[in-house]
Formats: sequence, C-alpha cells, structure tokens
Amino acid sequence: MPVITCIEDLKRLYRRRAPRMFYDYAESGSWTEQTFRENVTDFAEIRLRQRIAVDMTGRSTAGQMVGQDVAMPVALAPVGLTGMQNADGEIKAARAAEKFGVPFTLSTMSICSIEDVADHVTKPFWFQIYTLNDDDFNRKIIDRAKAAGCSALVITVDLQILGQRHKDLKNGLSAPPKFTIPTMLNLATKWAWGLEMLQTKRRFFGNIVGHVEGVSDPSSLSAWTAEKFDHALNWDKIRKLMDMWGGKVILKGVMEAEDAQKAAEIGADAIVVSNHGGRQLDGALSSIRMVPEIAAAVGDKTEVWMDGGIRSGQDVLKAVALGAKGVMIGRAFVYGLGAMGEAGVTKALEVIHKELDTSMALCGETRLGNVGKHNVLMPKDFLDRYL
Ligand code: GLV
Repeated sequence: MPVITCIEDLKRLYRRRAPRMFYDYAESGSWTEQTFRENVTDFAEIRLRQRIAVDMTGRSTAGQMVGQDVAMPVALAPVGLTGMQNADGEIKAARAAEKFGVPFTLSTMSICSIEDVADHVTKPFWFQIYTLNDDDFNRKIIDRAKAAGCSALVITVDLQILGQRHKDLKNGLSAPPKFTIPTMLNLATKWAWGLEMLQTKRRFFGNIVGHVEGVSDPSSLSAWTAEKFDHALNWDKIRKLMDMWGGKVILKGVMEAEDAQKAAEIGADAIVVSNHGGRQLDGALSSIRMVPEIAAAVGDKTEVWMDGGIRSGQDVLKAVALGAKGVMIGRAFVYGLGAMGEAGVTKALEVIHKELDTSMALCGETRLGNVGKHNVLMPKDFLDRYL
C-alpha cells in the first residue's frame, strides 16, 4: 500500500485509477473555473497563529452537527455519480463515514439507491434532494428517505439550472459510460476500475431509474436536469419541501447574508455556505470569503457550515476560525474513494482529522468551540477586497 500523507496523494492515485470522464466530472468547475480555483487558493491566503506553552492534553475535535455527535465537524457532501468513481462507491463511502463517526450524505444523483445504502450501514445517514418541479417525485423520494431512516435532509438550493462544465460535454458524461471510441480507449487503461465495475450491478442512477417515468435519457445528468429542475423555485416551495420532510433540514448553496437570514427565518437547522464547489455560478466569490459575513448576519439562529475548497485539516480549522460550525467535503473524499475504495475514504478522513487535531493544538486550542478569528491572520483586505 502506498504511503499516503495528504489528500493530494490520494488525488494522484485517483487520477491514475478512475476513468477520465469521472475524474473530470469531479475535478471541474463551471465555465472558466475561477470560483472552483479560488475556493482552494483563498484558503491558502489565510494563515494560522502559532501559540506556545498551552497545555494540549485532553483535546478533542468532537462536536455536533444538527444535534448529531460527530468525531469532527466534517460531513461527507452529496456528490453525484460517486458509484462511478469506484464500484459501489456510495456504500463504501457511507461505511467509512459511519466507522469514523462523521455524517454521510447520499446524493439524489447517486448510483447506489437510498434503500441499498441503508441495507449496508447500521446508523442513519443524510439524504440530499434537488428542487424539482415534480411534486410526485419529491414526495416519493422524501418518503423513501424517511422509510430508509435518514436523519436529515440536505436541500440543494443553488441548482435550478445547471452551470456548464465544459469537460462533461466534451467527454459525453453518462452513467454508465457510453461505448464511444475515446471512452473505450480510456477505459482500456483503467482495468482495475473496470474489473470491479463488472462485478457490481450498480451502474445506473439508482434513485431515478425504475422510480420515474418519462426521462428521455436516464444515463445523462444533463438530460434529467434540463427536464426536472424547478426554474420557478421560491422560498414558499423550499418551505413546502421542508414541511414534506418534517425533520432536520440543511439548506446547501447559500452565498448571501440576506438569503441566509431568510433560510434561518423559515426554520433551516443548518445552512451550507456553498457555491457548489465552483460548479454553478462561475465568478461567485469563494465560499470561505463569504463565511464571516454570513455567520455574523445569522448569529445563532441556525448553524452555519461551509463547503468548497477543503483539502486539509488546516482548511477545516480556518473555516471554523472564520465562523463555520462545520464543513462538508466533496472532492477530498472522492479522491480517496477513487484511489482506494472504502480504505481511501477512511484515509482521507484520517488525514484531515490528524491535520485538524495537530494544527488546533499548535494554535493553542484544545476545543474547536474555542477556535476563532484570534487563531488566524489574513491579508488586510481579505474580507472586503470585493465590494
Ligand atoms: C450536481 O449537483 C453536480 O454538481 O454535478
């Protein structure tokens, strides 16, 4: 087994192992990918203050996310097509998260279905839905998530229309891949991936195929989105989805203080400051830059989390220092999954946890609850460079 010391190591292995089409799907932003890049590079602008002679014994990264105990406040984000990065990927990621003690969120666009994942874990996981114009589908999928015992619903509120990711169009992204000549040539070099994929039946969008009628091409994410996303979404409809669920709700994709306040007002248990990993509105500021303003606007009316650009435990610490109570990771766990299956997701979590724990200690903190702006240094104009 190769020596893995950081998330970047997992990414290198993942790139070698996964078919180009699925690597590109994860490793893309929309249009120029400016927001996708800045989610990462803005974290690098924030520095940590080193403290000495502080008793670091008995420290802990544990906390709670929407009332659930977590080993560290890092949830696995919903990621579409995870079961194409590695055979049975959602089940593997869910099991790794459960064993580690962090939440796993299953995407509506998963390959393994809700029921299938539920059959392979012992504790409740979270389920993600989009805002679709099909009430019947919304109700049915929410009922399925309830029946599977899911403990929170993540509503993605920034995807009524799909931001264009050039590589997906060029690669003809689909699940399973279509047998075009470029795809076949690439798959021929990914034999380990292919062997595992041949041994599983889970190769289609498990939550959709067999559960809806009238989707012209169920293997294509863009066809589905074009047909079903609700262009007429408004706050009342979000509230209606929340009511349909009736349990803990996390609204993911909030980038403005005013929207965050509204989300808190309608009773969201948490919001995720998120630009969808730079995959939706290219040109939006990085998520981390928006966290302080949003956290200040919302106070303790709802939990403020963030995602986008987290590639290390130091990034988690910086996010917490700037006001996030928790984070979600998408690519960081997908790299691990694509590199080494369930063991790779565990590795990604271990890497992030160790970095978080050690960095917190070197900053002189023993509890994440005490971490704050006093732990970081930022360029003078970091928070108001863009007006
Ligand atoms: C789906 O939510 C995606 O970003 O591809």
